[in-house]
Amino acid sequence: MLKKLIDKLVTNQEVATTSKRNLEEIKQGPIPEHVAIIMDGNGRWAKQRGLPRTAGHQAGVDSLKKIVECAAKIGIGYITAYTFSTENWKRPQSEVDFLMKLFQQVFEKELDRFNQQGVKVKIIGYKDRLPDSVKQVAEQVMKKTENNQKIIINIALDYGGRAEIIEVIKNIASRVKDEQLKIEEIDEAEIAAQLYTADQPDPELLIRPGGEERLSNFLLWQIAYAELYFTQTYWPDFTAETFLQAIADFQNRERRFGGLKEGRC
Ligand code: IPE
Ligand code: IPE
Ligand code: MG
Repeated sequence: MLKKLIDKLVTNQEVATTSKRNLEEIKQGPIPEHVAIIMDGNGRWAKQRGLPRTAGHQAGVDSLKKIVECAAKIGIGYITAYTFSTENWKRPQSEVDFLMKLFQQVFEKELDRFNQQGVKVKIIGYKDRLPDSVKQVAEQVMKKTENNQKIIINIALDYGGRAEIIEVIKNIASRVKDEQLKIEEIDEAEIAAQLYTADQPDPELLIRPGGEERLSNFLLWQIAYAELYFTQTYWPDFTAETFLQAIADFQNRERRFGGLKEGRC
């Protein structure tokens, strides 16, 4: 009896989600302003096809292009894409080299498209450890897209949530030391204003494809109240439809922020 009831609830939930997948319908519901994505599963996608891991990274670029286009269409203002973590330097040198070359190529090749589509690119993370060739083209792409307004894409590259928070602490400590800031003045707004995402709303939705259910040091401060969406789909298989499914799922969530939903007791 109980099992039947649970099955029925699950089925209803699935139907509700799938039937909401249509783009026009989704546009009627609440659209997150900022979506964060951990683009994971590239290596496994490639392995499944008997290809080198690098082929997965290459294929992952196309997924990001599709998702950015779809996000702009439904009115999402910000996407933060995790492309390389502060821990990913531990990978074999050949994979790291491939990824750095890929970032450089994508920034160079996609610049015109970013401008045509009104995409403003912000690269967030440590800059000093990147090869000069990547650093230069990263600066260029940020400068040349800075006036675009349709959608902002934060590319998290050599990014770590803990590293970001350490930078904030150092900055605040030195301002306190120089008597520019009082300890009593340190609050959430003060910290948020020092993050790479200052002036941006916190992500309301975090999507992680690839099957792992962890944060892997991504946006630790900013996602305090984000809705988390995990899917088995590998990032290179992630399509606009998978993305819309995540948005539809978000639209079914009840966000309470520690309070109670209106009318509940
Ligand atoms: C994510 O895919 C891309 C980067 C971390 C650069 P992975 O390379 O982690 O793919 P899996 O998780 O090994 O399948
Ligand atoms: C997180 O994926 C980083 C990126 C997607 C860029 P990882 O594959 O590095 O994370 P873990 O090792 O599974 O936690
Ligand atoms: Mg991975």
